[in-house]
Parts: sequence; C-alpha cells; structure tokens
Amino acid sequence: MAAMEVEAKVADKEEEQVVNPWEVSAKDGGKIDYDKLIDRFGCQRLDQSHIQRVERLTSRPAHVFLRRGVFFAHRDFNEILDAYERGEKFYLYTGRGPSSEALHLGHLVPFMFTKYLQDAFKVPLVIQLTDDEKFLWKNLTIEESQRLARENAKDIIACGFDVAKTFIFSDFDYVGGAFYKNMVQVAKRVTYNQAVGIFGFTGEDHIGKVSFPPVQAVPSFPSSFPHLFSGKENLRCLIPCAIDQDPYFRMTRDVAPRLGYLKPALIESSFFPALQGETGKMSASDPNSAIYVTDSAKDIKNKINKYAFSGGQDSVEKHRQLGANLEVDIPIKYLTFFLEDDAELEHVKKEYGAGRLLTGEVKQRLIEVLTEMVERHRRARAAVTDEMVDAFMAVRPLPHMFD
Ligand code: TYM
Ligand code: TRP
Repeated sequence: MAAMEVEAKVADKEEEQVVNPWEVSAKDGGKIDYDKLIDRFGCQRLDQSHIQRVERLTSRPAHVFLRRGVFFAHRDFNEILDAYERGEKFYLYTGRGPSSEALHLGHLVPFMFTKYLQDAFKVPLVIQLTDDEKFLWKNLTIEESQRLARENAKDIIACGFDVAKTFIFSDFDYVGGAFYKNMVQVAKRVTYNQAVGIFGFTGEDHIGKVSFPPVQAVPSFPSSFPHLFSGKENLRCLIPCAIDQDPYFRMTRDVAPRLGYLKPALIESSFFPALQGETGKMSASDPNSAIYVTDSAKDIKNKINKYAFSGGQDSVEKHRQLGANLEVDIPIKYLTFFLEDDAELEHVKKEYGAGRLLTGEVKQRLIEVLTEMVERHRRARAAVTDEMVDAFMAVRPLPHMFD
C-alpha cells in the first residue's frame, strides 16, 4: 500500500497544527497554515488556470468561493475537467454528519458550492447523512441521530438542490445491498495499523469508530447506487468538502484501484473560521463561536459586535493613523466569503486597511450581509415540507439527472 500518501500524520499532539474530521486547531493561537496542509496531505493547490477552465467549460462566471480561494485544494480535478471536455459527465458526492439541530454558516459553505457545481455542470448529486457516525461519536441515541438527519436534510434542501438530480440518504436507512458489498470490499483492504495511521484511533476507541470509514468511502463508487448508476460503473465522482474530510478520501483513493474502481476526485475548501479568530473552524458545539442558520437578527448583531475578532486598533486616533490589520480581522474574512460584490469588497478592504473605515462600520455591513443571507435561508427552509424530504430521500432512478 502507498503508505507515504495515505498515512500522512494526523491527530498527533506533537504536530504544530491538527486537522482531521474531529479536530481543527492551529499552532498556539496562530492561523491554520493551508500551504503546510497541502504538503502534508499531498493534495494540489487550485490555481487561476482551473478557474478559467471552469468558466470556459460552464460558460458562466466562477463562484465567489472559487474566485476568492475559499476552495483552494484538489485531487485530480484536472481529470474531471478533461473528461467533461470530452463530453463525459460525472457525479457529485458530499455529506453531513447530523450532530446538531441547526447548521452553522460554515456548514453551508460546501452545500452552497455543491449547488453551484450541480447547476453549472448539470450533473447528479448524492448526499450522505452519516447518522450512524454521529451515533458512534456523540452521546446520541439512534432515534435522535435519525431525527437530526431529517432536520438537517431540510436545511440542505433549502440550499436549492434540484430534486430531479439529487439523492439524499441516511446511512441507517440506505446501507445494505450493493453499498454494503462495497463497504466490506474496502474494509478487507485496510489494515488496523493503516486506520490508526490515517485517523489516529487509539486502543481506547471502540471498534464502532474503527469500522466506520468504509461507510463514508463507498459513496465515491457509482456501483453503490444501482438505482442511479447501473451500467455506468465508470462514471467519475467529484467530492466537494472542507479539507478536514480529506483523511477518509485518502483511504478511499488508495483502495479504489485494487477494487478496479476509479479514484474519486476532490475539491476542498478552507474553514469558515470561528468568531474568535482563524485558529480553528466554526464549530457547532460552542454557541459563542458560531452563527447558526436559526439565529435571529438580534443574535447575529450581538454575536458580531461582541465576539467577532477585530484587526482594528484600540483607539480611534490610532486606527486613523495605522489602519486595521486585515490579516487577522474576522469581519473582513466573513465578508470575503459572503459579500458577493467584488468592487465593494475591495473598497471596504482598502478603506478599512487605511483607517478611514472603523471596525464598527465594517461590522455593521457584515451584520446586514449575514442577516439577509440567514433570513433568505430561513424562508427557504420554512418552505421545505416533509413530503419534499421524502421525495429527495426516496430510492428511485433519476432519469433527468444529466439534463
Ligand atoms: P460535518 O457534518 O462535520 O460537516 C459537513 C460539511 O461541512 C464542512 N464543514 C465546514 N466547511 C467550512 N467551514 C467550516 N467551519 C466547516 N465545518 C464543517 C465539512 O468539511 C463537510 O464537508 N463525516 C462527515 C459527513 C460526510 C461527508 C461525506 C462530508 C459523509 N460523507 C462526503 C463531505 C463529503 C461529517 O461529519 O461532516
Ligand atoms: N491561506 C489563505 C488564508 O489563510 C486561505 C484562505 C482560507 C482563504 N480562507 C480563505 C483565502 C478565504 C480567501 C478567502 O487566508
């Protein structure tokens, strides 16, 4: 097995920064070093040439998250684009571990981007809700994780996915048949030591955790979905996710050729940071670090004003003189994700960096942008009925998935 590629060190406390599916933290109070992460994981940087190719192939402007480097790394994205250029389609695979009632803004990042990819490339999408994973890792009953999966499905549907091209499934409901056969094929080809190397399991971890990775691996293979892809076993798979999920897919890519399957391609994002700063990702477990899609306008205003880490100076005089440090400023970072107008963003950065705009003024603009976005999400979610959830989750063929 290609031990070097797969066993890139993970949850080792001696490591300066920790990035894995369960923990994201930078070296003592610093920022996540994304260049180092690319080196350590062995993925590639996305560059200007990819963005231009995407624009050319889809005849539409690239998504803000591509233009501004939010999605910054990939594996084999070129192969996906080459195949698409030859007229071959692919499918998208992403997922969510339903651990909390409400999604935070960081969770929306891969889903908003996946929705753009689905529209731009006109391709089918499978979304895995890992209710089993959250049962195994969190203090949740099976029933509660299943309930959260359905609740989260409503937030995901609210991002605007096309029911004619999208299959959402819960592991507890869907695992079995061809999917399960692929799981055991994967499981048989990864040793315990390799799993420890990739995921950092210890002797104290129960075997439920050790047995989980094949579940997240196999939606990368079209044969796991016979109702969708029967006869299309060579369809390529592209996985949009944040880079914390990379360990699962390093394992998947290592095993795939030995099963006679194509390796899934990935397009990976940086983290939408916590309000307190860029040392970690926004996390659902600390309510003061995160803005949820269920927060009221008043919550958003209070959280931004009270907790969003500012790169501005302590006094107005000093600020006018020195300007803000944009590198560490959370309001600027958030606007980089969610303020769509390029010209306005440049203007705000220039004026704030020169001290002509104050932190309070930048925060005010951010509050407007996020309140509007969360309000729009709330309306879309309120329109999602139980029947719609059933429709997205029904095991069915999708005859119009490439239209
Ligand atoms: P989960 O539920 O922890 O996260 C769901 C998706 O959101 C991304 N994410 C973030 N992106 C940007 N900024 C953040 N602060 C942030 N926090 C989370 C995650 O990377 C992920 O893409 N095991 C997975 C579920 C899963 C999955 C997949 C994810 C199953 N199959 C395939 C991606 C692709 C989980 O618990 O994700
Ligand atoms: N290295 C960049 C940074 O830390 C990567 C990055 C993360 C980024 N999130 C971003 C770039 C959002 C643009 C926008 O700043």
